[in-house]
Amino acid sequence: MAKPISIAIDGPAGAGKSTIARRLAKELGFYYVDTGAIYRTVAYFFDLWGISPKDIDGITRYIDELTVEIEYDEEGAQHMIMNGMDVTKDIRTQEISQKASLVSAHAIVRDMLLDMQRDVAKRHNVIMDGRDIGTVVLPKATVKIFLTASAEVRAQRRTDELIAKGEKANYNEILKQIQQRDYQDTHREIAPLKMARDSIKLDTSELDIDGVIEAMKKIIAEKVTL
Ligand code: DC
Repeated sequence: MAKPISIAIDGPAGAGKSTIARRLAKELGFYYVDTGAIYRTVAYFFDLWGISPKDIDGITRYIDELTVEIEYDEEGAQHMIMNGMDVTKDIRTQEISQKASLVSAHAIVRDMLLDMQRDVAKRHNVIMDGRDIGTVVLPKATVKIFLTASAEVRAQRRTDELIAKGEKANYNEILKQIQQRDYQDTHREIAPLKMARDSIKLDTSELDIDGVIEAMKKIIAEKVTL
């Protein structure tokens, strides 16, 4: 088999990475790897154990008790398996988002997860999204895209999403959380969120989903014959 194709999508929280990457993966027949879900699974594990995501001693002591696996169902949807349990739905809370951002700053956590991310890309054509895919996980990715939007637009999208689901949403509160996560993700010492030098920046502030997909396909088509 020829060397698999890898498309790395990095960017801040709420830029639409997962929605876009999932749809593109389906259209192209690639595996979609949501690496944020992997860090969320780790955060969820330590949360269950009552260990703070900042408590590096506790994390170091108990990390060997944790196993994380990625599985795909027949529809190609990614499932996160923590110690044999499917936690895919449990990790989608605001609290776990914040904790994942904090727990992901530790080298011991990032080191543990690096090979599993690279392994999927060795075996399959992938679209992988996260914060450090183009810089650390897949520095030789076939295509690298940095997806971004202003914090205000990202907060508004998140607010609309929650309201559409019938949930409570406070725009100012959400904006504050997004800004806090941006700060944490870009200022950590190891593998901070930053654009790879050979990445192409796409600002989605003024685009709808179809517009982003079209723009991404153009970028991809310049490097890959699909
Ligand atoms: O993409 P997300 O919101 O599900 O990610 C949750 C957190 O995980 C994010 O705030 C930072 C961390 N993360 C990371 O450090 N590296 C990645 N490749 C993906 C996510």
